[in-house]
Amino acid sequence: MTTETELTAADLRLLAEAGGMAPSLHNSQPWHFRPTPDLRGLEVHADLSRAVPAADPDGRALHISIGAAVFNLRVAAAHLGREAVVQLLPNGAGTQPRAVLGLSAPLRTPQPFGADLYPAIPRRHSSRHPFTNRDVPEALVADLITAARDEGVTLTVLEEHGMRRVLALTSEAEARIAADVTREAETHRWLRLEPSCDGIPLAALGSHDRDAHLPMRGFAGHPPRHTTPAARFEALPQIATLTTHFDGQSDWLRTGQALERVWLLATVHGLRASVLHQAVEIPDTRWRLRDPAEGPAHVQLVLRLGYGPPGAASPRRPVSQVLDLPEG
Ligand SMILES: Cc1cc2nc3c(=O)[nH]c(=O)nc-3n(C[C@H](O)[C@H](O)[C@H](O)COP(=O)(O)O)c2cc1C
Repeated sequence: MTTETELTAADLRLLAEAGGMAPSLHNSQPWHFRPTPDLRGLEVHADLSRAVPAADPDGRALHISIGAAVFNLRVAAAHLGREAVVQLLPNGAGTQPRAVLGLSAPLRTPQPFGADLYPAIPRRHSSRHPFTNRDVPEALVADLITAARDEGVTLTVLEEHGMRRVLALTSEAEARIAADVTREAETHRWLRLEPSCDGIPLAALGSHDRDAHLPMRGFAGHPPRHTTPAARFEALPQIATLTTHFDGQSDWLRTGQALERVWLLATVHGLRASVLHQAVEIPDTRWRLRDPAEGPAHVQLVLRLGYGPPGAASPRRPVSQVLDLPEG
C-alpha cells in the first residue's frame, strides 16, 4: 500500500485511464489531468476546446462530465490505496483547475464506497438497448439513492405519472432540438469526431404504449444504422432524476460524481443505464421537469434504468492526450 509517497508515472497512467472512462455529453471527454507540482495530487482541468456550446451553452453538461471523471479518479485512488481529498473549484467558479485531488495519505477505510467499484469502471457503458420489464428491486433503489445522497445529490426514481411527464417533455425537447440547425450541425460534428455516438439509436423509439413513448436521443438526418422496433422497448421505462438544491458549477461537478457513483454501483449489480438529456438542454423544458411537490430543486439529469444488454464500449482518447506526464 502506498503511503505519503509521490505518484509514480504508473499511478498517474492508471488514474488518467480511469478518469478518461467516465461518461460525457456526446463522448466529448472535456477533461485534462495534470499532476500537482509536488506529485502528491492530481488536477482536473476543463478542456474547453472540447465544449459543446450549442447544446450546453452554460457548461453544465461539461461540468457533469468532469465530475464523473473526478469520481472515477476517487475510485482509482482507492484502488491504489490512497485517500482522495477532493477540492472542487479551488480557485473559484470558471477558473482552472475544476478540481484538485490530494492523494498523499493512505486510504482510511478499505471500502470507501461500500463496494469495490474499480472493476466496474471499464464495464460501465451507456445501454440504449430495449430493457426487459423487470423492476429494479427496492433494496437496490435504496442503495442508489444513498449513493447519490452521499455525493450531495438527490436521486428520485419516478412513479408512473412522473415518468410519463418526463418522457413527454423529453420528446418535446427532442423535436425542438432536431429543428435547430445550429445544434444539429454541432451534433453531426461530434458524430464525425466521436463515432461512438453512432451507437445511439437514431430514430425516436416508442414503447408498447404510445403515451409512454421512449425518446432515445435521435440524430435527424442521419439514417439509422440499427433501428430497434418500438414494440421491443420496455412498456413502462424506469426513469430517475438527479436533482440539486442550487445550480452552480460545484453542483454540476457534484452531480457528475453522483451520476458515476450510481452508475458504477448499478453496473456492479447488473443494472444498466442510459442518459436522456434532451429536456434539460432547453431552459423551459428543464424548468417543467421539476416536480413542484418536491420543493425547490434543479433537475440536472434524467436516467433510464433497467435490465438488458450491457451496451458496447465506446472509444476514448489515449492517455497521452489527456495526461501531462512530468518530464524525466
Ligand atoms: C451530461 C451528459 C449528457 C448525456 N446525454 C446523453 C443523451 O442525451 N443520450 C444518450 O444516449 N447518451 C447521453 N449521454 C451518454 C454519453 O453519450 C456517453 O457517456 C458517451 O457516449 C460515452 O459512452 P459510455 O457511457 O458508453 O462510456 C450523456 C452523458 C452525459 C455525461
